[in-house]
Amino acid sequence: MYKDMDAYWMPFTANRQFKKSPRLLTRASGMYYWDDRGRQVLDAVAGLWCVNAGHARPRIVRAIQEQAGEMDFAPPFQMAHPKAFELAHRVAQIAPTGMGKVFFTNSGSESVETALKMAIAYHRARGEGTRTRLIGRERGYHGVNFGGISVGGIVANRKMFGTLLAGVDHIRHTHDPARNAFSRGQPPHGAEFADDLERLVALHDASTIAAVIVEPVAGSTGVLIPPQGYLQRLREICDRHGILLIFDEVITGFGRTGSPFAAQTFGVTPDMMTVAKGLTNGCVPMGAVICKDAIHDVFMQGPEHLIEFFHGYTYSSHPLACAAGLATLDTYAEEGLLTRAAQIEHTFAEAVHSLRDEPNVVDVRNVGLVAGIELASIPGAPTRRAFGVFLDCWEQGVMLRTTGDIVALSPPLIIEPAQIEQIVETVRVALRRAA
Ligand SMILES: Cc1ncc(COP(=O)(O)O)c(C=O)c1O
Repeated sequence: MYKDMDAYWMPFTANRQFKKSPRLLTRASGMYYWDDRGRQVLDAVAGLWCVNAGHARPRIVRAIQEQAGEMDFAPPFQMAHPKAFELAHRVAQIAPTGMGKVFFTNSGSESVETALKMAIAYHRARGEGTRTRLIGRERGYHGVNFGGISVGGIVANRKMFGTLLAGVDHIRHTHDPARNAFSRGQPPHGAEFADDLERLVALHDASTIAAVIVEPVAGSTGVLIPPQGYLQRLREICDRHGILLIFDEVITGFGRTGSPFAAQTFGVTPDMMTVAKGLTNGCVPMGAVICKDAIHDVFMQGPEHLIEFFHGYTYSSHPLACAAGLATLDTYAEEGLLTRAAQIEHTFAEAVHSLRDEPNVVDVRNVGLVAGIELASIPGAPTRRAFGVFLDCWEQGVMLRTTGDIVALSPPLIIEPAQIEQIVETVRVALRRAA
């Protein structure tokens, strides 16, 4: 263990608790981590919802090593390198039809900021400059930058940071345990929650609204699966009022729900998708906004020597990230990983739903290879029960993630049935001990 832990201010971490009892990862391969005690730990969350092909995949490792030796950096403004075009092309090939343009960023948060700016600029470029309002959803997570926390709906991520962006509103969330608890796949009730957007249109007028952003499956708030018909209805309302629909697919992108993107799993095509994480299998930071050709094309007007969209990052389309992204897509294709979650979904669902009668379990929900197990909170001490389960599982050799009092599972897409069983039985032991 590294001795002096003082200087590192850890993100989204209970720093004092952690430093008293550190959990240090030192190596990873396939489905496993190893810690500084030499213990093998099964990864039940794909790192942080990102290592979809499993850890240290040789093709990806090699691609990064070779790229580092060949060309370390290439400026992305007024210059480019071939792999940026190749990766954009390959991403567009697996995206829903008509979503053929890819703008690179370095994280999910940056993808969100990029999409929000793109939406407002798009309306202005087509002569509807009054459309500046952005609509998010309660319980949404869209990263940590100001745009993302403004449209986001998780109170802890918002309350410390002042007034946030002006001109933002939120539709209601879709969680309805009274009607939908223990649903498998899309819950039956709640398509009508999409009508909340009509309420905001009535309040603000459609002519002021640029875009609505939602996660197709809300991940960080604790795995909320969209009710049947909900996303379709949201699409219809957006179309009726000329509002852009943005799917934040940072977690759902690249195979998590059984198709390359959740848009395909649920049969609803948005105008833009934000992605990151699985784009490079988590190996090099990278994100992207994938948008409809028609949105891009609106920007392509005026004198040709002028920049069309005043936006970008020094590390947009970084050569190491592009090399990692290409090798990642090759690995996904070779092993059929972008649809594997659909094949193993039944086994996964059977296993996680076997936890329904364990102590304090109030809901289990799942789609593809993602599941949420919601626990009753300890009165007066929210989050403590789930955090205790997390620590217990870690000691038992399984790394999972909790948010509030919800256990989230999102293993690498290479997981085998025996490993699913190990995760679920480990959680079962922890739930019984926590009772
Ligand atoms: C839906 C969604 N959007 C955005 C983000 C932010 O991504 P990043 O942490 O790469 O900035 C996340 C991260 O978990 C996410 O789940």
